[in-house]
Amino acid sequence: TTYKIGYFVGSLAKGSINRLLSKALVRLAPGQLDMVEIPIRDLPLYSYDYDADYPPVARDFKQAIAAVDGVLFVTPEYNRSIPGGLKNAIDWASRPWGQNSFTRKPSGVIGTSPGAIGTAVAQQDLRSVLCFCNSPLMNTVEAYIQFKPGLIEEDGAVTNPSTEEFLRKYMQEFHLFVERVLTVLPREG
Ligand code: FNR
Repeated sequence: TTYKIGYFVGSLAKGSINRLLSKALVRLAPGQLDMVEIPIRDLPLYSYDYDADYPPVARDFKQAIAAVDGVLFVTPEYNRSIPGGLKNAIDWASRPWGQNSFTRKPSGVIGTSPGAIGTAVAQQDLRSVLCFCNSPLMNTVEAYIQFKPGLIEEDGAVTNPSTEEFLRKYMQEFHLFVERVLTVLPREG
């Protein structure tokens, strides 16, 4: 079976190291995972005033999540949490009430930062959020990637073999996790 995975890049920066990480993960993903980016940058700031009539950009965003079997968050740590843009996207996806896009949608989190703890605090915050959003979340493998200049090339090639192997294992484990979740919680419809 092939699974479609939607990934979110938490950074909007042109030079994002998390975008580089996402490219590496796409390259290293096992053949059973079909990886597609779900962009977050065009979403306006969420308010529940939109709940009665979501704008097309937000409908498309929720439709993109509905179309995938699992989601992967590749996120930086900003001020010891996730970037506001990513939280905004999650808030859009979680509403209107009763139409939470993350219910029963398996998820994984990963991120990179130049700091020694490699986004650990942001990922912990994100875990709380996804837990509340009723997303079955992969507990292990955890992946806190400390970014050193040149670690990942522009095309997503990983220059450090042990990091490359670790990221490949992470994606293999994520594949098995998604498969397990969907075996007990088959997609509706
Ligand atoms: C950071 N950075 C950062 N790093 C970290 O490890 N913990 C943190 O709490 C923060 N806080 C923080 C806040 C803000 C507003 C910025 C812009 C940056 C540094 C951060 O890890 C670095 O800029 C990375 O390049 C961010 O990842 P992207 O955006 O390049 O993918």
